[in-house]
Amino acid sequence: MSLPKIAIVTGANRGIGLATVRGLLKKYEGKVYLTSRDEARGQDAVASLNKEGLKPAFQQLDTASKTSINNLKDYVVEKYGGLDILVHNAGILYKKDDPTPYPERAKTTVQTNYFDTVNVLNALLPVMKTGGRVVTLSTNISLIALQGCRDDIKSFFRSDDLTEKMLSDKMKEFVVSAEEGKHDENGFDEHAYGMSKLGVNALTRIMARDLKGQRDILINCCCPGWVRTDMGGENAPFSPDQGAQIPLKLAMLPADSTEPNGELHVRRKLVKWYE
Ligand SMILES: NC(=O)c1ccc[n+]([C@@H]2O[C@H](COP(=O)([O-])OP(=O)(O)OC[C@H]3O[C@@H](n4cnc5c(N)ncnc54)[C@H](OP(=O)(O)O)[C@@H]3O)[C@@H](O)[C@H]2O)c1
Repeated sequence: MSLPKIAIVTGANRGIGLATVRGLLKKYEGKVYLTSRDEARGQDAVASLNKEGLKPAFQQLDTASKTSINNLKDYVVEKYGGLDILVHNAGILYKKDDPTPYPERAKTTVQTNYFDTVNVLNALLPVMKTGGRVVTLSTNISLIALQGCRDDIKSFFRSDDLTEKMLSDKMKEFVVSAEEGKHDENGFDEHAYGMSKLGVNALTRIMARDLKGQRDILINCCCPGWVRTDMGGENAPFSPDQGAQIPLKLAMLPADSTEPNGELHVRRKLVKWYE
């Protein structure tokens, strides 16, 4: 008996994550898991989809907790033998008027958006099944951050030979520089959210390169556009369902696809940001 296909979306209790779950439930022939760090908020989101006649499964996942990530991994391996689709969507952005001091904002933003992504991918990529599709959420602000970096730092992020360790060391260097007020002096752009997602772009590229040829797994990142969510605010032009279009497309690349792989899509446009 073959096990059912399974898709997981992180940070799916609201916003683009919730819309991605909705889209998968409508289009994907497999079990779709809505995950949320908070059980009650997750169950409320499940109930809201139930009202639309959609039936997601639910698992708790706090991407800041390695225990929580490993519990999810063990669950999918035991129940499904692995994972077919992973959309890692959970992320944070401090509001412009947030009073949190810059060093703390930089540290927390890079931890959540970059280092938690490292942990999620390192735990779950090994259990992706043949034909697996992985999508990480980035932003075009990462490209503005890249432009704001000194030339040697730009070249670093664009390098074909980066390793995860080199990249993580550089992201730590950015955080320490921000904490010491030396980010400018050390060649980094000031925008912590943009820097954190620049890290996601580079990480996605490294992981795609390292996985190439193995089990037909494709991993890509995307910017959903400016989307009306708690993060994007009410003036954004795109609805969450419109924002979910590109993660959905990359999550459901046809079985025989060999590309895109390791690439960034800003909405539907492929952007070779590293050239
Ligand atoms: N909205 C935009 O215009 C826009 C543009 C470009 C990129 N993006 C990216 O798209 C993704 C989704 O954005 P959004 O607009 O939907 O944001 P959102 O409305 O603020 O939702 C963020 C989601 O991430 C979850 N999350 C944060 N930290 C988490 C953790 N440690 N564990 C599990 N879940 C966690 C939140 O859970 P809680 O409810 O528990 O806080 C929430 O479900 C983000 O990665 C964002 O950077 C958004």
